[in-house]
Amino acid sequence: MIDAAEMKKIDLLHGDCLELMQDIPDKSVDLILTDPPYNIGKARWDKIPNYVEWCGKWFIECQRVLKDNGSFYWWQNDMVQIAQLMEWLRNNSGFVFNSFIVWDKGDFRALSWKNPSDDSNLRSWFNTCEYCLFYTFQDETGLKKVLKNPAFYGLQNYFLTERKKTGKTATFLDNVMGIKSSYCYWEKPTTHEYRIPDEKNYIALQKYFDGVAFTQEYESLRQEYESLRQEYESLRQEYESLRYTHNLGTNHNNVWRSNERNTGKQHPTQKPNDLMERIIKTSSNQGDTVLDLFMGSGTTGVACVNTNRNFIGIELDDKYFEIAKQRINEAQNKPEQITML
Ligand SMILES: C[S@@+](CC[C@H](N)C(=O)[O-])C[C@H]1O[C@@H](n2cnc3c(N)ncnc32)[C@H](O)[C@@H]1O
Repeated sequence: MIDAAEMKKIDLLHGDCLELMQDIPDKSVDLILTDPPYNIGKARWDKIPNYVEWCGKWFIECQRVLKDNGSFYWWQNDMVQIAQLMEWLRNNSGFVFNSFIVWDKGDFRALSWKNPSDDSNLRSWFNTCEYCLFYTFQDETGLKKVLKNPAFYGLQNYFLTERKKTGKTATFLDNVMGIKSSYCYWEKPTTHEYRIPDEKNYIALQKYFDGVAFTQEYESLRQEYESLRQEYESLRQEYESLRYTHNLGTNHNNVWRSNERNTGKQHPTQKPNDLMERIIKTSSNQGDTVLDLFMGSGTTGVACVNTNRNFIGIELDDKYFEIAKQRINEAQNKPEQITML
Protein backbone atom coordinates (compact mmCIF):
# COMPACT_ATOMS: atom_id res chain seq x y z
CA MET A 1 0.00 0.00 0.00
CA ILE A 2 1.09 3.56 -0.64
CA ASP A 3 2.33 5.41 2.41
CA ALA A 4 -0.28 7.97 3.57
CA ALA A 5 2.43 10.65 3.83
CA GLU A 6 3.39 10.07 0.21
CA MET A 7 -0.19 9.98 -1.07
CA LYS A 8 -0.90 13.11 -3.02
CA LYS A 9 -3.97 15.22 -2.36
CA ILE A 10 -6.95 14.65 -4.67
CA ASP A 11 -9.86 17.12 -4.63
CA LEU A 12 -12.84 16.16 -6.78
CA LEU A 13 -15.49 18.86 -7.10
CA HIS A 14 -18.92 18.23 -8.51
CA GLY A 15 -20.60 21.17 -10.27
CA ASP A 16 -20.07 24.06 -12.66
CA CYS A 17 -16.40 25.00 -12.97
CA LEU A 18 -17.22 28.70 -13.26
CA GLU A 19 -18.69 28.59 -9.74
CA LEU A 20 -16.35 26.06 -8.14
CA MET A 21 -13.13 27.63 -9.41
CA GLN A 22 -13.92 30.69 -7.31
CA ASP A 23 -12.92 28.66 -4.22
CA ILE A 24 -9.44 27.92 -5.58
CA PRO A 25 -6.90 30.41 -4.17
CA ASP A 26 -5.00 32.79 -6.46
CA LYS A 27 -1.69 31.51 -7.87
CA SER A 28 -2.03 28.09 -6.24
CA VAL A 29 -1.91 25.75 -9.26
CA ASP A 30 1.25 24.63 -11.11
CA LEU A 31 -0.36 23.15 -14.20
CA ILE A 32 -3.80 23.39 -15.78
CA LEU A 33 -4.50 20.56 -18.19
CA THR A 34 -8.04 20.59 -19.42
CA ASP A 35 -10.23 19.21 -22.16
CA PRO A 36 -13.25 21.50 -22.44
CA PRO A 37 -16.34 20.93 -24.57
CA TYR A 38 -15.26 21.67 -28.17
CA ASN A 39 -18.70 23.06 -29.07
CA ILE A 40 -19.04 20.68 -32.02
CA GLY A 41 -22.23 18.96 -30.88
CA LYS A 42 -20.55 15.69 -29.90
CA ALA A 43 -22.89 15.30 -26.90
CA ARG A 44 -25.57 17.16 -25.00
CA TRP A 45 -22.92 19.07 -23.02
CA ASP A 46 -21.01 19.97 -26.20
CA LYS A 47 -23.19 22.78 -27.60
CA ILE A 48 -22.57 26.04 -25.80
CA PRO A 49 -24.18 29.38 -26.72
CA ASN A 50 -21.71 32.29 -26.97
CA TYR A 51 -18.89 29.78 -26.82
CA VAL A 52 -15.94 32.18 -27.07
CA GLU A 53 -17.38 34.45 -24.39
CA TRP A 54 -18.01 31.43 -22.15
CA CYS A 55 -14.42 30.19 -22.64
CA GLY A 56 -13.22 33.70 -21.84
CA LYS A 57 -14.80 33.39 -18.38
CA TRP A 58 -12.92 30.23 -17.42
CA PHE A 59 -9.74 31.40 -19.16
CA ILE A 60 -9.69 34.36 -16.79
CA GLU A 61 -10.24 32.08 -13.79
CA CYS A 62 -7.35 29.91 -15.05
CA GLN A 63 -5.18 33.01 -15.22
CA ARG A 64 -6.08 33.86 -11.62
CA VAL A 65 -5.37 30.44 -10.06
CA LEU A 66 -2.21 29.61 -12.04
CA LYS A 67 1.20 30.39 -10.53
CA ASP A 68 3.41 32.91 -12.37
CA ASN A 69 5.58 30.08 -13.68
CA GLY A 70 2.64 27.73 -14.32
CA SER A 71 1.65 26.06 -17.59
CA PHE A 72 -1.76 25.99 -19.23
CA TYR A 73 -2.80 23.31 -21.74
CA TRP A 74 -6.24 23.11 -23.34
CA TRP A 75 -7.53 20.72 -25.96
CA GLN A 76 -9.59 21.60 -29.05
CA ASN A 77 -9.97 20.23 -32.54
CA ASP A 78 -12.02 22.84 -34.37
CA MET A 79 -9.60 25.16 -36.18
CA VAL A 80 -12.01 28.08 -36.56
CA GLN A 81 -12.77 28.10 -32.85
CA ILE A 82 -9.07 27.66 -32.03
CA ALA A 83 -8.34 30.81 -34.03
CA GLN A 84 -11.09 32.73 -32.22
CA LEU A 85 -9.96 31.52 -28.80
CA MET A 86 -6.30 32.31 -29.48
CA GLU A 87 -7.30 35.80 -30.55
CA TRP A 88 -9.40 36.19 -27.41
CA LEU A 89 -6.48 35.12 -25.20
CA ARG A 90 -4.09 37.45 -27.00
CA ASN A 91 -6.38 40.44 -26.54
CA ASN A 92 -7.80 39.77 -23.10
CA SER A 93 -5.33 37.83 -20.98
CA GLY A 94 -1.72 37.69 -19.84
CA PHE A 95 -1.24 34.25 -21.37
CA VAL A 96 1.48 33.90 -24.00
CA PHE A 97 1.11 31.22 -26.67
CA ASN A 98 4.01 28.77 -26.50
CA SER A 99 3.33 25.86 -28.86
CA PHE A 100 0.87 23.07 -29.49
CA ILE A 101 0.73 19.29 -29.61
CA VAL A 102 -1.00 17.34 -32.34
CA TRP A 103 -2.53 14.06 -31.25
CA ASP A 104 -2.34 11.98 -34.42
CA LYS A 105 -5.13 9.43 -34.06
CA GLY A 106 -4.07 7.41 -37.09
CA ASP A 107 -6.11 6.88 -40.20
CA PHE A 108 -9.08 4.99 -38.77
CA ARG A 109 -11.53 7.60 -39.99
CA ALA A 110 -9.91 7.97 -43.39
CA LEU A 111 -10.38 4.24 -43.83
CA SER A 112 -14.10 4.69 -43.37
CA TRP A 113 -14.09 6.75 -46.57
CA LYS A 114 -14.10 3.48 -48.48
CA ASN A 115 -17.83 3.46 -47.82
CA PRO A 116 -18.82 7.08 -47.32
CA SER A 117 -22.41 7.49 -46.29
CA ASP A 118 -22.60 10.90 -47.89
CA ASP A 119 -20.70 12.25 -50.92
CA SER A 120 -20.22 15.59 -49.21
CA ASN A 121 -17.77 13.84 -46.86
CA LEU A 122 -15.36 13.63 -49.76
CA ARG A 123 -15.15 17.36 -50.40
CA SER A 124 -12.70 18.15 -47.59
CA TRP A 125 -9.93 16.45 -45.57
CA PHE A 126 -11.12 14.38 -42.67
CA ASN A 127 -9.62 15.55 -39.44
CA THR A 128 -7.90 12.62 -37.73
CA CYS A 129 -6.13 14.62 -35.06
CA GLU A 130 -6.79 16.81 -32.03
CA TYR A 131 -4.75 19.73 -30.80
CA CYS A 132 -3.56 20.65 -27.34
CA LEU A 133 -2.51 24.30 -27.03
CA PHE A 134 0.22 25.23 -24.59
CA TYR A 135 0.31 28.64 -22.90
CA THR A 136 2.44 30.19 -20.17
CA PHE A 137 2.75 33.70 -18.79
CA GLN A 138 6.27 34.22 -20.11
CA ASP A 139 8.03 33.27 -23.26
CA GLU A 140 11.67 32.22 -22.99
CA THR A 141 12.92 35.21 -24.95
CA GLY A 142 11.15 37.58 -22.57
CA LEU A 143 12.75 35.80 -19.64
CA LYS A 144 16.22 35.86 -21.14
CA LYS A 145 16.00 39.65 -21.18
CA VAL A 146 15.98 39.51 -17.38
CA LEU A 147 19.48 38.06 -17.51
CA LYS A 148 20.78 40.04 -20.48
CA ASN A 149 21.32 42.98 -18.28
CA PRO A 150 24.28 45.34 -18.66
CA ALA A 151 25.42 44.76 -15.07
CA PHE A 152 28.82 43.44 -16.07
CA TYR A 153 29.53 45.72 -19.00
CA GLY A 154 31.94 48.01 -17.11
CA LEU A 155 34.21 45.15 -16.07
CA GLN A 156 33.85 43.51 -19.43
CA ASN A 157 35.03 46.68 -21.18
CA TYR A 158 38.01 46.96 -18.85
CA PHE A 159 39.25 43.44 -19.64
CA LEU A 160 38.54 43.82 -23.33
CA THR A 161 40.36 47.17 -23.57
CA GLU A 162 43.34 45.85 -21.64
CA ARG A 163 43.57 42.79 -23.86
CA LYS A 164 43.53 45.00 -26.95
CA LYS A 165 46.43 47.02 -25.47
CA THR A 166 48.48 43.82 -25.31
CA GLY A 167 47.73 42.96 -28.95
CA LYS A 168 47.34 39.32 -27.91
CA THR A 169 44.53 36.83 -28.27
CA ALA A 170 42.29 35.65 -25.43
CA THR A 171 43.86 32.19 -25.67
CA PHE A 172 47.34 33.69 -25.29
CA LEU A 173 46.28 35.50 -22.12
CA ASP A 174 44.75 32.33 -20.76
CA ASN A 175 48.05 30.57 -21.36
CA VAL A 176 49.91 33.29 -19.47
CA MET A 177 47.63 32.65 -16.51
CA GLY A 178 47.75 28.88 -17.02
CA ILE A 179 43.95 28.61 -17.16
CA LYS A 180 41.43 27.75 -19.81
CA SER A 181 38.68 30.08 -21.08
CA SER A 182 38.37 32.76 -18.44
CA TYR A 183 35.81 34.44 -20.75
CA CYS A 184 36.36 37.90 -19.33
CA TYR A 185 38.02 39.34 -22.44
CA TRP A 186 35.75 37.74 -25.01
CA GLU A 187 34.07 40.18 -27.35
CA LYS A 188 30.58 38.99 -26.40
CA PRO A 189 30.52 36.80 -23.32
CA THR A 190 27.05 35.74 -22.20
CA THR A 191 26.32 37.08 -18.74
CA HIS A 192 26.24 33.71 -17.01
CA GLU A 193 29.74 32.93 -18.30
CA TYR A 194 31.20 36.17 -17.04
CA ARG A 195 33.80 35.95 -14.30
CA ILE A 196 37.10 37.67 -13.58
CA PRO A 197 40.39 35.85 -13.06
CA ASP A 198 41.39 35.05 -9.47
CA GLU A 199 44.06 37.18 -7.80
CA LYS A 200 46.98 34.80 -8.53
CA ASN A 201 46.17 34.68 -12.24
CA TYR A 202 45.56 38.41 -12.49
CA ILE A 203 48.92 39.11 -10.86
CA ALA A 204 50.53 36.76 -13.41
CA LEU A 205 49.00 38.93 -16.15
CA GLN A 206 50.20 42.15 -14.50
CA LYS A 207 53.73 40.78 -14.22
CA TYR A 208 53.81 39.58 -17.80
CA PHE A 209 52.62 42.88 -19.29
CA ASP A 210 54.43 44.96 -16.69
CA GLY A 211 52.75 48.40 -16.81
CA VAL A 212 51.51 48.02 -20.42
CA ALA A 213 48.10 46.59 -19.53
CA PHE A 214 46.04 45.35 -16.56
CA THR A 215 47.25 48.16 -14.34
CA GLN A 216 44.16 48.46 -12.11
CA GLU A 217 44.54 46.94 -8.61
CA TYR A 218 42.99 43.52 -8.22
CA GLU A 219 41.12 44.34 -4.98
CA SER A 220 39.09 47.15 -6.59
CA LEU A 221 38.13 44.84 -9.48
CA ARG A 222 37.15 42.08 -7.07
CA GLN A 223 34.92 44.38 -5.01
CA GLU A 224 33.17 45.66 -8.11
CA TYR A 225 32.67 42.09 -9.31
CA GLU A 226 31.20 40.97 -5.95
CA SER A 227 28.63 43.78 -5.84
CA LEU A 228 27.64 43.06 -9.47
CA ARG A 229 27.34 39.38 -8.67
CA GLN A 230 24.76 40.16 -5.99
CA GLU A 231 22.77 42.21 -8.47
CA TYR A 232 23.05 39.36 -10.94
CA GLU A 233 21.95 36.78 -8.33
CA SER A 234 18.71 38.65 -7.59
CA LEU A 235 18.02 38.83 -11.33
CA ARG A 236 18.73 35.13 -11.64
CA GLN A 237 16.28 34.34 -8.82
CA GLU A 238 13.60 36.43 -10.50
CA TYR A 239 14.29 34.51 -13.70
CA GLU A 240 14.00 31.13 -11.95
CA SER A 241 10.73 32.09 -10.25
CA LEU A 242 9.16 32.99 -13.61
CA ARG A 243 10.59 30.15 -15.66
CA TYR A 244 8.05 27.42 -16.34
CA THR A 245 8.83 23.75 -15.69
CA HIS A 246 9.85 21.81 -18.78
CA ASN A 247 11.28 18.36 -18.05
CA LEU A 248 12.50 17.22 -21.43
CA GLY A 249 11.85 13.66 -22.47
CA THR A 250 13.88 11.90 -25.15
CA ASN A 251 11.29 12.67 -27.79
CA HIS A 252 10.69 16.34 -28.18
CA ASN A 253 8.44 16.74 -31.18
CA ASN A 254 4.84 17.94 -31.14
CA VAL A 255 3.11 15.15 -33.10
CA TRP A 256 2.13 12.40 -30.72
CA ARG A 257 0.52 9.01 -30.99
CA SER A 258 -0.96 7.08 -28.13
CA ASN A 259 0.06 3.53 -27.32
CA GLU A 260 -3.37 2.82 -25.86
CA ARG A 261 -6.13 0.95 -27.61
CA ASN A 262 -9.32 2.84 -28.27
CA THR A 263 -11.42 0.39 -26.27
CA GLY A 264 -13.14 0.34 -22.88
CA LYS A 265 -13.68 4.08 -22.87
CA GLN A 266 -16.14 5.39 -20.31
CA HIS A 267 -16.56 8.83 -21.84
CA PRO A 268 -17.21 9.72 -25.50
CA THR A 269 -14.24 12.11 -25.58
CA GLN A 270 -11.94 10.32 -23.16
CA LYS A 271 -8.27 11.16 -23.65
CA PRO A 272 -5.51 8.52 -23.61
CA ASN A 273 -3.71 8.28 -20.24
CA ASP A 274 -0.26 8.15 -21.82
CA LEU A 275 -0.66 11.53 -23.57
CA MET A 276 -1.95 13.18 -20.40
CA GLU A 277 0.92 11.67 -18.38
CA ARG A 278 3.45 12.93 -20.89
CA ILE A 279 2.19 16.50 -20.57
CA ILE A 280 2.08 16.25 -16.77
CA LYS A 281 5.61 14.85 -16.48
CA THR A 282 6.98 17.49 -18.84
CA SER A 283 5.24 20.53 -17.40
CA SER A 284 5.15 19.81 -13.66
CA ASN A 285 7.20 18.17 -10.94
CA GLN A 286 6.25 15.54 -8.42
CA GLY A 287 4.14 17.01 -5.63
CA ASP A 288 2.89 19.88 -7.83
CA THR A 289 -0.82 20.67 -8.14
CA VAL A 290 -2.63 20.02 -11.41
CA LEU A 291 -6.13 21.32 -12.21
CA ASP A 292 -8.61 19.94 -14.75
CA LEU A 293 -11.82 21.99 -14.77
CA PHE A 294 -13.57 19.70 -17.28
CA MET A 295 -12.38 16.35 -16.02
CA GLY A 296 -15.04 14.14 -17.63
CA SER A 297 -14.14 10.56 -16.71
CA GLY A 298 -11.10 11.77 -14.75
CA THR A 299 -8.22 10.89 -17.10
CA THR A 300 -6.10 13.82 -15.90
CA GLY A 301 -6.72 12.69 -12.29
CA VAL A 302 -5.62 9.12 -13.06
CA ALA A 303 -2.50 10.48 -14.76
CA CYS A 304 -1.78 12.63 -11.68
CA VAL A 305 -2.07 9.63 -9.36
CA ASN A 306 0.26 7.66 -11.64
CA THR A 307 2.83 10.45 -11.65
CA ASN A 308 2.56 11.52 -7.99
CA ARG A 309 0.97 14.95 -8.44
CA ASN A 310 -1.83 16.62 -6.43
CA PHE A 311 -5.02 16.95 -8.41
CA ILE A 312 -8.08 19.21 -8.43
CA GLY A 313 -10.80 17.96 -10.79
CA ILE A 314 -14.16 19.53 -11.58
CA GLU A 315 -17.05 17.89 -13.45
CA LEU A 316 -20.64 19.01 -13.95
CA ASP A 317 -22.28 15.78 -15.07
CA ASP A 318 -23.42 13.36 -12.31
CA LYS A 319 -22.59 10.20 -14.24
CA TYR A 320 -19.11 11.27 -15.34
CA PHE A 321 -18.32 12.63 -11.89
CA GLU A 322 -19.00 9.16 -10.41
CA ILE A 323 -16.93 7.49 -13.15
CA ALA A 324 -14.05 9.89 -12.49
CA LYS A 325 -14.21 9.18 -8.75
CA GLN A 326 -14.13 5.47 -9.38
CA ARG A 327 -11.27 5.55 -11.92
CA ILE A 328 -9.12 7.79 -9.72
CA ASN A 329 -9.85 5.61 -6.71
CA GLU A 330 -8.78 2.51 -8.62
CA ALA A 331 -5.57 4.23 -9.73
CA GLN A 332 -4.83 5.16 -6.11
CA ASN A 333 -5.13 1.52 -5.13
CA LYS A 334 -2.47 0.50 -7.62
CA PRO A 335 0.52 2.26 -6.01
CA GLU A 336 3.04 0.09 -7.86
CA GLN A 337 2.12 2.00 -11.05
CA ILE A 338 3.50 5.32 -9.84
CA THR A 339 6.22 6.45 -12.21
CA MET A 340 8.77 8.54 -10.34
CA LEU A 341 9.58 11.21 -12.89
C1 LIG B 1 -14.35 16.87 -23.37
S1 LIG B 1 -15.03 16.26 -21.96
C2 LIG B 1 -13.65 15.81 -20.98
C3 LIG B 1 -13.24 14.37 -21.16
C4 LIG B 1 -12.02 14.00 -20.34
N1 LIG B 1 -10.82 14.58 -20.88
C5 LIG B 1 -11.82 12.50 -20.23
O1 LIG B 1 -10.73 12.01 -20.56
O2 LIG B 1 -12.75 11.84 -19.82
C6 LIG B 1 -15.65 17.70 -21.21
C7 LIG B 1 -16.42 17.49 -19.93
O3 LIG B 1 -16.73 18.77 -19.39
C8 LIG B 1 -17.94 18.66 -18.66
N2 LIG B 1 -18.49 20.03 -18.51
C9 LIG B 1 -19.19 20.76 -19.41
N3 LIG B 1 -19.48 21.96 -18.92
C10 LIG B 1 -18.94 22.01 -17.67
C11 LIG B 1 -18.88 23.00 -16.66
N4 LIG B 1 -19.46 24.20 -16.82
N5 LIG B 1 -18.22 22.71 -15.52
C12 LIG B 1 -17.63 21.51 -15.33
N6 LIG B 1 -17.67 20.52 -16.27
C13 LIG B 1 -18.30 20.76 -17.42
C14 LIG B 1 -18.78 17.73 -19.53
O4 LIG B 1 -19.78 17.11 -18.75
C15 LIG B 1 -17.72 16.75 -20.06
O5 LIG B 1 -17.69 15.58 -19.28
